[in-house]
Amino acid sequence: MRHFLKETDFTREEIAGVFATAAAMKRDRGRCSSAQPLARQSWGLLFFKKSTRTRVSFQVGVHELGGQPVMLNADELQLSRGESAADTARVLSRYLHGLVLRCYSHSLLEEFAQVGSVPVVNALSDYLHPCQIYTDFFTLAERWSGGNPDRYLESLKGRKIAFLGDTACNMANSFILGGALLGVEVVLAGPEDYEPGGEIRTQLKSDGLAPTWSFTTDPVAAVRGADMVYTDVWVSMGMEAEKAERLRQMQPYQVNTGLMRAAKPEALFMHCLPAHAGEEVAQEVLDSPASIIFDQAENRLHTQKAILAHLAS
Ligand code: CP
Repeated sequence: MRHFLKETDFTREEIAGVFATAAAMKRDRGRCSSAQPLARQSWGLLFFKKSTRTRVSFQVGVHELGGQPVMLNADELQLSRGESAADTARVLSRYLHGLVLRCYSHSLLEEFAQVGSVPVVNALSDYLHPCQIYTDFFTLAERWSGGNPDRYLESLKGRKIAFLGDTACNMANSFILGGALLGVEVVLAGPEDYEPGGEIRTQLKSDGLAPTWSFTTDPVAAVRGADMVYTDVWVSMGMEAEKAERLRQMQPYQVNTGLMRAAKPEALFMHCLPAHAGEEVAQEVLDSPASIIFDQAENRLHTQKAILAHLAS
């Protein structure tokens, strides 16, 4: 049985397969002949945090793969009244064929995977957001390969990505891990205190991956020569108490038209959404031809369907 808790749970070859499947599922969506690898299965979607894209795309995705999505709000389970995570994992495993879980601590995902007996998918933890990163690299590969799935991974190799703002967040960690796995240079630019920490460095080592990332406090240096510029919200879920200080510290890292000019002329702009226009990104960038944010959002559906199909195979 396989789980998908972090980027490196699949090999490069498996990722190539996932991307090819995602492309085929995108092309064939709605056709009668569409694959139904989750037929007669029920998959739980357990969310401890708010979500629009992940929740809806997984719900639709499980349905389109022939399965039944079972929405589980953490507040409505006995978990919220003290039942242990271990007992919850064991019980849910007796009903469900798989579990998609969004939570705060990554260790909760690991506990569900260890104690339960069905595949667990990370739908975001405070540490990593692997479904988003696979989608983002798939979205870039679609563009950079000229739409040729045989060239998807090759088209990513050697590219430079700049990530600005909260460089200690789960998306930054996921870029560090995903970039090393796929041979993409990742330059992170944020306030000094937000340099990525020891946990992600240890993860790279334990996965046997050479780092392809660097950190700077200079946003222009980070963006110079970049093929794609990325940002995420400055105040992640659970960090609301730090809002005022974060907004002050991260102001120099706002992605605006002036900063985009330092990137390659053909550089793309991406954001995992939700966006806070006027904070981490200017509205004019969100609306610009460089912005592919809604392709990203759509591709969550196709990529996650391919991940689920791979786990079910
Ligand atoms: N990008 C992302 O995970 O969006 P949601 O929080 O809306 O699921």
